[in-house]
Amino acid sequence: MLTSEILNTFRQLLDEAAAGGDPEPTAMNLSSADAAGRVSSRIVLLKGVDERGFRFFTNYESDKGTQLQAHPQVALCFHWKTLREGVQVRVEGVARRLLPEESDAYFATRARGSQVGAWASLQSQTLPDRASFEQRVAHFEHEFEGREVPRPPHWGGYVVEADLVEFWYGAKYRLHERVRWNRHGQTWTYRLLYP
Ligand SMILES: Cc1cc2nc3c(=O)[nH]c(=O)nc-3n(C[C@H](O)[C@H](O)[C@H](O)COP(=O)(O)O)c2cc1C
Repeated sequence: MLTSEILNTFRQLLDEAAAGGDPEPTAMNLSSADAAGRVSSRIVLLKGVDERGFRFFTNYESDKGTQLQAHPQVALCFHWKTLREGVQVRVEGVARRLLPEESDAYFATRARGSQVGAWASLQSQTLPDRASFEQRVAHFEHEFEGREVPRPPHWGGYVVEADLVEFWYGAKYRLHERVRWNRHGQTWTYRLLYP
């Protein structure tokens, strides 16, 4: 569980980044590893943060979904270039699937086009040509015509339960400030790190 102090610091920075005009303040790098320990990174969007952790949504059968099945351990990294002198937040922990009801609730808020896209995209699989994807989109638009689009069973959310959160504040002459929080069981402690 994240403490209110960590959560408040994170939320304040995210709000400041958004207010300062960052075009994609919720974009975060997500790194995961496959069964052999090979690491991959990609950007996903943060769709909520609370005491339990950092939430994002994706295709459970994508490369990242397969990797998270093999190794739940992940790292997240936010970088807000235009905030203060530049701010980075690093998070490490384990990614757990959300309950189906939680994924349903978020899926229902998505634009219809994105809902259809979640059915049409076989995320991370080989696409022979663009027309094949467009055909799948048309197929699912037809299938769900005149009714609500249900959440595909292969699509849903994860929450990253953190055991490490680092706030990195840029400063002149590379004299950056680093505040590293570590969780030991339910207790969090922090220390400063040399930049
Ligand atoms: C700004 C931005 C936001 C993205 N948000 C998501 C997201 O929330 N969920 C997602 O599955 N992919 C998202 N993507 C696409 C991923 O970066 C990635 O291409 C995709 O998830 C497939 O990754 P994988 O093959 O490693 O599973 C986003 C890409 C960008 C550039």
